[in-house]
This record gives sequence, C-alpha cells and structure tokens, in this order.
Amino acid sequence: MSKQEESDGDDAAESTEPSDPVEELRERRREAERGGGEARIEAQHEKGKMTARERVDFLVDDGTFTEVDAFVEHRSTNFGMGEKTFPGDAVVTGYGEVDGRKVFLFAHDFTVLGGSVGEVVAEKICKVMDRAIENGVPVIGLNDSGGARIQEGVDSLVGFAKIFNRNTEASGLIPQISAVMGPCAGGATYSPALTDFTFMVEDTSHMFITGPNVIETVTGEQVSKEELGGAGSHSSKSGVAHFAYDSEEEALENIRRLLSYLPQNNMEDPPRVQPWDEPDREVPELADIVPNAPRKPYDMTKVIDRVVDEDSFFEVQENWARNVVVGFGRMDGRSVGIVANQPRVSAGTLDIDASEKAARFIRTCDSFNVPVLSFVDVPGFMPGTEQEHNGIIRRGAKLIYAYAEATVPLLSVVVRKAYGGAYIVMSSKFLGSDVNYAWPGSEMAVLGPRGAVNILHRQEIADADDPDARREELMDEFREEFAHPYGPARRGYLDDVIEPKETRKRLVDDLDLLTRKREDTPPKDHGNIPL
Ligand code: HXC
Repeated sequence: MSKQEESDGDDAAESTEPSDPVEELRERRREAERGGGEARIEAQHEKGKMTARERVDFLVDDGTFTEVDAFVEHRSTNFGMGEKTFPGDAVVTGYGEVDGRKVFLFAHDFTVLGGSVGEVVAEKICKVMDRAIENGVPVIGLNDSGGARIQEGVDSLVGFAKIFNRNTEASGLIPQISAVMGPCAGGATYSPALTDFTFMVEDTSHMFITGPNVIETVTGEQVSKEELGGAGSHSSKSGVAHFAYDSEEEALENIRRLLSYLPQNNMEDPPRVQPWDEPDREVPELADIVPNAPRKPYDMTKVIDRVVDEDSFFEVQENWARNVVVGFGRMDGRSVGIVANQPRVSAGTLDIDASEKAARFIRTCDSFNVPVLSFVDVPGFMPGTEQEHNGIIRRGAKLIYAYAEATVPLLSVVVRKAYGGAYIVMSSKFLGSDVNYAWPGSEMAVLGPRGAVNILHRQEIADADDPDARREELMDEFREEFAHPYGPARRGYLDDVIEPKETRKRLVDDLDLLTRKREDTPPKDHGNIPL
C-alpha cells in the first residue's frame, strides 16, 4: 500500500466518526462550567458559599449573563501546573444586566486553585475592566481568592499591579463595586479598597494584609480571623467595608439596590425612577423629632427618613463613624446623597473617622452626578489629644476639600445648631453650597453659649457672688444675640429660614431647578486633597 493510500485510509477511518463541532463546543462549555469539579463545588457549598457562577446568576437579571474567555487556560508549567489546567481558569468574567442596565463582572472561582490570581486570571479581569471603562459601564468584582498564585511567582504580582492600574483608571469614570465573599489577603485587598464600595458577608469573608499566623509570629498578638478581618470588624472598626450582610444573597441583592442610585458612568445622570411619594408632602412631625434643647440627643435618621421619598433611604457605612450619617435616598424619584450629623452618637461632633467617611461619600456623589443634601446639627470638632495627634487637622480638612471641590448641586438645612469651624465645614454657602436653609429654632455661632461666655466673661463670672447664676444670665444674653438663624439670614448666608414641615417640598423644588446646574472648573491634572 502506498503512503498516499495509507493516508487516505486514515482519513476515511476518521470520517466514519465525525465529531459534531457544535456538540464539542457545548461539551467544552460544560467542562468550563464545572470549574474545579463536583467535589470542590460541594466543599464550597458546605462552607455556606455559592460558586462563582451561582453568584453571577443570582446577581444579574435572569438569563442576561454572557461569559467571555471561558476557554482561557494558564500557561504555567511550574510545580506540576502543566497537569492542572481548567478552561476559564480561576475567574468567571463577562457581562450581564441589572434592572435592564449593563454591568461587567468578574467572579473568582475558588473551586479552581483556590481562586488564585495568576497571569491569565489577571488578564481576564483586566479585559472586562477595559471594556467597562471604554463603554462607560459599571464593573462588579466578586472576590473569593487565595490571592497571588504562588506557583506563578512574580507574574501573579504583576497581574495584581495591572488590576490596580485599571481600578485607578476607572475611578471616577464608572462605578466600581467589590463584594468580598471569601478570603482576600495581602496586597489582593487593595483592589477592593480602590473601588467605590465594598460589600462583605458575615462569617465567610475575611480581609487582612497579614493573617493571624503572621501577626502572632511577628508581634505575639493572638487574634481570630473573624476579629481581625471579618465583616463585623471592617464594617464597624476600620471602615473598609461599606456594607456587611448575613448572607451572600442579601449582599448581592443590595448590590443591585446600590446600582439603582448610580449612573452608568460619570457622563450620565443617575436614573430617575417613577416617583411614588407626594413631592409637596408636608412633614409636621419633623418639629417634634428635633428637640429645642440644643444638647438633647435624637436620631437624625428619623429626619432623613421623613424628608426623602418613603422607604428610599439606603445608609452607607451604617456601623462605622456613626456620629455622621451618609447614604443614598430619592427625592421625587431622583437620586440624592445624604450627609448628616448624628446627635445620638458623640453628640454629632465631627472627628477623624466622621470627616473621612463623609468626605469620601461626597466625592463619590460628585464623581457620579448625585446631588448632596446635608442635614446639619453639629457642636463642633471633637476635642482631645487623641484626635489632634492622629491628625484631625489634616484629616478633617478632607471634608472641607470634598464639599468645596464638589460641582454637583449642594443643599443644606441647619436643623438645630452649627457651631464654629463645623458650621463652615458642613456645606456652608462659602464652600460652594447652592441652597442653604435653617429651621427657626436653630443657631449658628463661633461657640455654643456656655463655651462663649466662659471665654468672654471669665473674670466677671469668677468675681460674681453667684458665678453660676451670672453665667446663666450671660448665656441668655448671648442666646438673644446669636441663638437664632436671623443673623446669618440678614447677611444672606442663609437663603431662607423655613418651617420644618415645608422642608421636603422646598428641597424637591430646589433639586428640580438645580438639575440644570452647570459649573466649570479650570483644567488641572487633579487637586491635591490632604490624604
Ligand atoms: C495557589 C492556592 C493559593 C494561592 C489557595 N490555593 N491559595 N494555590 N496560590 N495563593 C489552593 C490550595 O493549595 C488548595 O489547593 C486550594 O487552593 C484550596 O485552598 P485550601 O487551603 O484548601 O482552602 P482553605 O482551607 O479554605 O484556605 C483558603 C486560604 C488558604 C485561607 C486562602 O489557602 C491560604 O492561606 N492561601 C494562601 C494565601 C496567601 O498567602 N496568598 C498570598 C497573598 S499575598 P488544593 O489543590 O490543595 O486543594 C497576595 C499578594 C498580592 O495576594 C500582591 C499585590 C501587589
């Protein structure tokens, strides 16, 4: 038999069992979808965690996810890695829709090599991030990973650098949301930290630069994984997590909710939803919620809840720096950012954490065309060496910077008091606020009455037969002069003094007018916010 005949014979033999290319594609896809295999999927479920694909499916509108790079495989041969290839490797990437709006996604697949990030995992993530930036679409990262893939050495570290670079490029252009749903250690934590919002899940997600073992070795300190970097710690102590939920489902549902307040990118306005609450609604109960006595605590979230569209307030960083409240709400269906002092916690004083929390939130709103509405009731900045030595000057300055640089509409209402630097900082006219109101019982001054008379009349009080009685008299005189909003109103520092019950109506009207606001700033590379 000639070589030719031999060859023809082989071809004929192959063609007797032709493979169906479409069936082959389907089988390859099924293989990619199996990730690290049944046993590892089961192990993932046993830990109370969903797989990457289950998370993506839960997050996006039904049937809208389109995967990209499902067949990408790593090229590493170190440490026997040549035998361990998985189509799609350790991350699922693609795009889908949330409430009919496009999002790009990447979800680490812990069933494949612990979701570790090697060269091609990073390439896959960078590809969807690039597409998100080019197309002006939010990007959501679902993190569950052992971090840099040890077997790929420096290529893994470089991969992280490329992701960080994309995070920074995307910052202020498109919303970036991270959910940490498993381990996230070392430098890997910096990708979520560079994004706009971080979600965590109680018990199953952990973030730390160095884990408990390293800490014990280096410092001797013993700490559990949960105490060190669990959702509870990061949502109440460090402020790293903006949201913490009991389950992955709740976290994913709230990512959807968060997106509803945000535009697709910095060139668009947030979507306005069909209003469901009366824009002219009077709110008589506001007058009862805020006590007249300037030092009596009350819950500012009750004021917010009653002013914004019913059930629309979505608090951000609810359990950290609780002396200031930030979050999203709606006014006549329009998205707004809320910043408010919280007299129930530390009397609503501004300290380092509160300043940074509010500043970061204002800058996020300003990046994404969300007007900022401030409710002011603030006795001042927090005194003390702890605050001074930790840099309240430089770090409190961030809040001034954030309000002053913001070009979105800024509106504020002084509901009771605003003293000293904190009066100026909290969205005053002079930092560029568009609309400033105060309620009739409110007061604005350099100091509260007690502090003021103690300084102005120290000798006189000391010399009085009854110093306490004399102090009270002087405080009454001071109140007569300053303890009302008509001084600032006479100077035009306030646009109006309004009745509490008309607050919602007035703000809705103003926000409607301010949708036309245009403010140009001279070109510069970027400002130099005190960090
Ligand atoms: C390669 C990894 C891996 C990694 C986990 N695996 N982490 N493979 N590189 N970084 C593999 C494991 O070998 C194992 O494979 C599988 O994933 C599951 O891991 P387990 O350890 O069995 O799971 P679990 O008990 O749940 O523990 C998860 C873990 C632990 C806490 C993440 O695996 C761990 O501590 N990994 C190392 C974490 C780390 O130090 N990463 C480097 C961080 S520094 P097999 O086949 O055995 O099942 C970093 C730098 C970023 O990321 C740089 C930015 C500049």
